[in-house]
Amino acid sequence: MQIVFKTLTLENFKNHKSVTVNFGDVTYIQGRNGAGKSSIGDAISWVLFGTDISGSKLDPRPIDSGEGTESKVELLVSIAGKDVLFGRTQKKTAKYFINEVPKKATEFNEFLENQFDKNLFLSLFNPGHFFTQHWQDQRNQLLHYVSEPLNKEVLAELSQIDRERLEEPLKKHSLDDLEKLHREKVRSSDKTYERAAERAVTLEEQMSKQSNKIDNVEHFKKEVELLHKKRTEIDEENEKVQKIIIERNRLEGQIDNLTSQVANQKALVQGIKEESIKELCSTCGQPLDEPSIQKVKEDRVKRFNKEVAKGKDLVRKVNELKAKLTDYPEPAEINRAELNEIEDKLMQLQMAIRDSEQSANLESDHKEAMEKKEALRKELVTSKAIVDAIKEFKSKRSELMVSKVDDLFMTISVKLYETLKNGEERATFEIEMDGKPYSKLSTAEKIKAGLELIEVLSKQSEVIAPTFVDNAESILNFTAPAGQLIVARVKDEDLNIKYVEGNK
Ligand SMILES: Nc1ncnc2c1ncn2[C@@H]1O[C@H](COP(=O)(O)OP(=O)(O)O)[C@@H](O)[C@H]1O
Ligand SMILES: [Mg+2]
Repeated sequence: MQIVFKTLTLENFKNHKSVTVNFGDVTYIQGRNGAGKSSIGDAISWVLFGTDISGSKLDPRPIDSGEGTESKVELLVSIAGKDVLFGRTQKKTAKYFINEVPKKATEFNEFLENQFDKNLFLSLFNPGHFFTQHWQDQRNQLLHYVSEPLNKEVLAELSQIDRERLEEPLKKHSLDDLEKLHREKVRSSDKTYERAAERAVTLEEQMSKQSNKIDNVEHFKKEVELLHKKRTEIDEENEKVQKIIIERNRLEGQIDNLTSQVANQKALVQGIKEESIKELCSTCGQPLDEPSIQKVKEDRVKRFNKEVAKGKDLVRKVNELKAKLTDYPEPAEINRAELNEIEDKLMQLQMAIRDSEQSANLESDHKEAMEKKEALRKELVTSKAIVDAIKEFKSKRSELMVSKVDDLFMTISVKLYETLKNGEERATFEIEMDGKPYSKLSTAEKIKAGLELIEVLSKQSEVIAPTFVDNAESILNFTAPAGQLIVARVKDEDLNIKYVEGNK
């Protein structure tokens, strides 16, 4: 894209009352000091951006003019083959025109932004502009037009081992993401590794204290099983004995009870037997007659027989119970000693099994902890290696970038990175010519450096714009830029502006 100046007209702009500049391939502006040469450059930046050529705000009103004086600049430019007439006037406030049509400030600026980048334009137009920017902006502006080396190109420069480490992961992640990922992994697995190592040590200590592992746990368990069975048998046996004892007690109680009833009955029968027959009536005291006496006697026999029968029945019941009792022979005493022995043995066996199982668990926990520790160590080592490889990658990429940028320039060299104490690279930006930093260069050298930079920026951005070389009398000769050249020189004459075509 090419920007070509055609005509510039100034009215009441700084010391200029009315001037028209027609531009050619080369436009010469000559005159004494203070003739208004530099102001021509300012007029161009002012009509476009409202600033002087260095980008500072500018009030163009002639100092000795009255309040009503209006400053006015018009610039006819061809942008990519299309003519545009930019206009700006200022009395108290600024007014904007595109192709003589009044525009709002925002409309004007928007239109301009759509034509070209302001910063790029100023850097191409004014050989000093680029260097007035913050170093980061300088760096960004230059690198904006230089493509970064491809991952493939950088990988090719790495050692085989680093290349193999990064090649696959870089297909999935960007370099920055990959670095973040593995830095985080190093950070977190460093901690988890420490914890795993501590756990392994703790388990080792526990293991050294508890070394009761038995090889034949199964055998022990079988023995426990046998003892359980035996204990159950004894328990069942005891239960039976218990039942017999209860039954015997019950029968014996019944027998005791009935026996005392038999004794009572005996006494009762004896009493009846010994009863004397009363011969007087108990109420009237008259002697009883024979039939009455007989009746009493009969009554006593009747009662006697009844009670004897009752007694016999009781005796029969007692005998029955006694016979039943012989069905439950007195059992042998319960064997507590054997039971206790079994319990003791069971306890010992179970404790041994538990200890052994705990030991076995400790061993497997320890094995697991060691495996985890080893896995984490491997992860850690891998991530650290990747982080290192990324460092190497970045440094190689910087080298490639530097040589790519260096290749663009003839006399200028560009410093893009500086190496920190820890070996890491940090972005920086400094332009040097013949080993001298830009800030230390003479006016002429600065202009030359600026022109070389313009050439590169123009080539890389594919934007060709006019360049205004002010104070050109300080340089003997210089390479002309690709775009139009406007040269301002001090010469002992009145302001004189002329242009030539095709001859730089
Ligand atoms: N706002 C202004 N009104 C009138 N004159 C100005 C104004 N600003 C600067 N000047 C003067 O205009 C003259 C031209 O300046 P300049 O363009 O820098 O001259 P040159 O580059 O030719 O030496 C200088 O004498 C300067 O003092
Ligand atoms: Mg000047």
